[in-house]
Amino acid sequence: MKNIFIRRILFLLSIVLIGACSNNETGQTVSITNNKVKVEFQLTENGQPSYSVFYDDAQVIKPSLLGIDFKNQAALYDQFEIIKRSSFAKNEQWEMPWGEQRFVQNNYVETRIELQEKINLRRKLNLVFRVYEDGIGFRYEFPIQENMGEVFITEEQTEFNLTDDHDVWWGPGDWDIYEHLYSHTKFSEIDATAFRNHPSLGQTHIPFNAVNTPVTMRTEDGLHLSFHEAALVDYSGMTLKVDTLNMTMKSVLVGSRNNDFKVAQKVPFHTPWRTIQISETAGALITSNLIVNLNEPSKIEDVSWFKPMKYTGIWWEMHLGKSSWDVAAGKHGATTENTKAFIDFSAKNNIGGVLVEGWNTGWEHWIGFEDREGVFDFVTPYPDYDLKEVVRYGKEKGVAIIMHHETSAATETYAKQQDTAYALMQSLGIHSVKTGYVGKILPKGEYHHGQYMVNHYNNAVEKAAKYQVAINAHEPIKATGLRRTYPNTISREGVRGQEFNAWSSDGGNPPAHLPIVAFTRMLAGPIDYTPGIFDIKFDQYKKDNQVNTTIAQQLALYVVIYSPIQMAADLIENYVGNPALQFIKDVGVDWEQSKVLNGEIGEFVTIAREERGTGNWFVGGISNEEPRDVIINFDFLPKDAIFEAIIYKDGATAHWDKNPLDLSIEKIALTHTSIRKIHIAAGGGFAISIIKK
Ligand code: NOJ
Ligand code: CA
Repeated sequence: MKNIFIRRILFLLSIVLIGACSNNETGQTVSITNNKVKVEFQLTENGQPSYSVFYDDAQVIKPSLLGIDFKNQAALYDQFEIIKRSSFAKNEQWEMPWGEQRFVQNNYVETRIELQEKINLRRKLNLVFRVYEDGIGFRYEFPIQENMGEVFITEEQTEFNLTDDHDVWWGPGDWDIYEHLYSHTKFSEIDATAFRNHPSLGQTHIPFNAVNTPVTMRTEDGLHLSFHEAALVDYSGMTLKVDTLNMTMKSVLVGSRNNDFKVAQKVPFHTPWRTIQISETAGALITSNLIVNLNEPSKIEDVSWFKPMKYTGIWWEMHLGKSSWDVAAGKHGATTENTKAFIDFSAKNNIGGVLVEGWNTGWEHWIGFEDREGVFDFVTPYPDYDLKEVVRYGKEKGVAIIMHHETSAATETYAKQQDTAYALMQSLGIHSVKTGYVGKILPKGEYHHGQYMVNHYNNAVEKAAKYQVAINAHEPIKATGLRRTYPNTISREGVRGQEFNAWSSDGGNPPAHLPIVAFTRMLAGPIDYTPGIFDIKFDQYKKDNQVNTTIAQQLALYVVIYSPIQMAADLIENYVGNPALQFIKDVGVDWEQSKVLNGEIGEFVTIAREERGTGNWFVGGISNEEPRDVIINFDFLPKDAIFEAIIYKDGATAHWDKNPLDLSIEKIALTHTSIRKIHIAAGGGFAISIIKK
């Protein structure tokens, strides 16, 4: 009791000190500092809000304007004065129910700047800045006031003025899908319009030369910046329009063809956080918790009903064309018998779940149809699939069935049926579902990333929680750290996934894809990438397609790409008898802590993770098309222990295209003093299981 009292006094004292030392207000300028990161907020001569950001006293964001445009009233833009300013410091730790680490430190300085127009309607707007040691978040807050009620936002005028022509890793600002390749160019060379009309995408809309977030940059001085948003709730997703002449990005919210505004809201409300992560090393972007920290604590009291797991599934076989989702094609994949084979295989190999796609009626009328509402009902199995029986059989073997709801983007049908569908799952003891939103959104005119869909995705997660159901959404809205508030939003796609290797007409995902994804998309949250393809060339099914990595890299992905559900995506027959399967059997899915051992964006990255509960460690490293040697220092292992390790690495002649299956497996003893040089082939990787003796 006494202890708590003393800590409380110390904490209050720290707020006062921060207020006195770090934040000083000169006239209409406010500066907010946390260690090396500083935000300077100012009102311009005509009372326009503007902010700039410094790292270690060097400017990283030049003065950038802030403002909001409305349909039903004048823009909130200028003629402001600061009427109040308040600050506090927060220093807390919270626990992730599952994640890349157990404990998360959330330390920041928050300053709320209350503005009011000096003229006309004297409307009020608050700007809230949270300054962390590794970046910042800020948002607009609209307090209750007389002259503002219901608002229709037509645009958010948030600027990010860059200091130079940085190196940028970016994906196009598509309003309908994130499944594009990333590019690496100078900022001045960004051309997102080149990605229009991709032949393998059922929905795509790139109206401007804009990028989607997270977008990551490296400055001439080697500083790393990543721009994104946190806590995207009841608002539109933000793309960033690039001005390649002036080195500026400006927010463009995703719109709707049905409305002449982009966001409808009622005061009081606030926007999502606009975030800038700042780090000296590329790896520190990955271990930053800024995005999750900017979200509210969990609203779900008990999530013990969900457990992180590896899973297999009736999935890759459809993407290869071995079987089909629908029955009419005559090679239906989702049969009771096939599912039982996956259950048997999973039970034998320490894999907790089986995903079954194509189990419910309607797949004959799935893709390319205008009239998609009412096609799928999420409760009616095809006659050759006995849902109750596979669930029973799975339980007997300790393997969970993972439900699948492909909505075909017919959102009204899905919203109407969610209660029934989730109740069925709960009655069967099924606790997770993969959802899908392939195709153009119905109702027509909406885009996947607009306010309508943001609400649809978030409502699904909230509703599912009531039925103890966790969601892994494909064709989702971007991750913005909401997994802190709703841990049952377990994973998502929102990336060009493994499936593109099976069928895309542009050569699949090149070796540099995942070394970029680790420093861009992965900063937003867990990814259901679906690794573990052993039959890299799959010539039996698709002669013109292949996976563009070595088999060793496929193993590494279980560690490098974080998700609390990790698929062993290949066909059962490609695993049986392959000694590399041992790694998938052993690898953890839930982590006590994670360390990025090395990495450069788009080139290579090595991550080590300690499994919760066992003290075992797993390491994964991947490279782009460049072969390279990496030195791994095992000093992250505890001092007092001896570990038995198995290293799965590229063989001497391995190459992602010429010899992807060349794999070397070596058993060694490891301690915290061990240091090893490991060779990674072109498009290769390595995976190490480090088991406590
Ligand atoms: C797209 C998803 O990304 C994929 O994994 C799934 O198999 C299909 N939709 C069918 O739902
Ligand atoms: Ca997809």
